[in-house]
Amino acid sequence: MDSAYKVRIIGDPVLRRRANEVTEIDGALAAVTDEMLDTMYAEPGIGLAAPQVGIEQRFFVYDVGDGPETLINPVIMESDGEWTYAEGCLSVPGLFWDLVRPKEILIKGYDLTGEEVQIEADELLSRLFQHEMDHLNGVLLVDHLDEEQRKDAMKTLRQWQDNVENDPDDIDPSLGLSLP
Ligand code: NI
Repeated sequence: MDSAYKVRIIGDPVLRRRANEVTEIDGALAAVTDEMLDTMYAEPGIGLAAPQVGIEQRFFVYDVGDGPETLINPVIMESDGEWTYAEGCLSVPGLFWDLVRPKEILIKGYDLTGEEVQIEADELLSRLFQHEMDHLNGVLLVDHLDEEQRKDAMKTLRQWQDNVENDPDDIDPSLGLSLP
């Protein structure tokens, strides 16, 4: 589980700030994304946004089974439909909620070579992109909950935070998420 970065957990203010545009796509950025992918695979997760490791810039890494990818300065151009999915987050460990979001999106951004890319994404990949975009805007999945889900969530998170304060190492590794 050793990797360069530690994933920031809900309560960390860096998760609540809007990240800045990337101004230079270079080898230094590529090296950072390699380290972030190591961190993501170690968790394990399928997506990791820069603010989750304390880097306030607009990019994220992901791998939904087709190999590691990076998307820089992403913008969602279009969205369509509705899809319900039990969504989790490495920064909100161990918790999942059924969230409805658009089923399909068209997203554009830049890859590590500086080329502009446009990706049409459906279902899981679409969900991942929307989730990671949220991170770049300081939004967490708890912000999408309805009132009842939110009450449950706050209770669970309080218990969880009490446990962590008592024993910071007492985070159940089995809570590693399979999702963004
Ligand atoms: Ni997340």
